[in-house]
Amino acid sequence: MDDLDDLLRAAREAQKQAYAPYSNYRVGAAVRGDNGKIYGGANVENASYGLSICAERNAVAAAVLDGVRRIVAVAVVTASSPPVAPCGACRQTLAEFADDLPIALTNERGERRDTTLRELLPLAFGRTDLK
Ligand code: THU
Repeated sequence: MDDLDDLLRAAREAQKQAYAPYSNYRVGAAVRGDNGKIYGGANVENASYGLSICAERNAVAAAVLDGVRRIVAVAVVTASSPPVAPCGACRQTLAEFADDLPIALTNERGERRDTTLRELLPLAFGRTDLK
């Protein structure tokens, strides 16, 4: 039991709402804002496949909509074993709102792997590079 357990629970709840009729690959994510609140997201696919949106980015969007600008932790759940990490686009999106953060990866069997944004996206490009 640690403080990512709440996030993992929220990610599992979010996964139930995944809209993935094309891939049948259901992803749930949850992010914690620096306000302490948890925001869930699920993947939302589209018949025009390229328009599909990942669970992680939908969770970030939910947080931003609530006024959050810093994210402090992330959890992701899929059916994959071993648990999978966010795609590259989602890593970059997370980097917009955090220099580093813990990321808990899990699956429907309850296997878990912990990582960090720095580990997944070293030498990230960010807003300070635009100066
Ligand atoms: N997907 C996510 O939601 N997050 C990821 O990090 C990787 C992929 C979704 C997109 C698509 O709906 C399905 O998984 C298969 O790629």
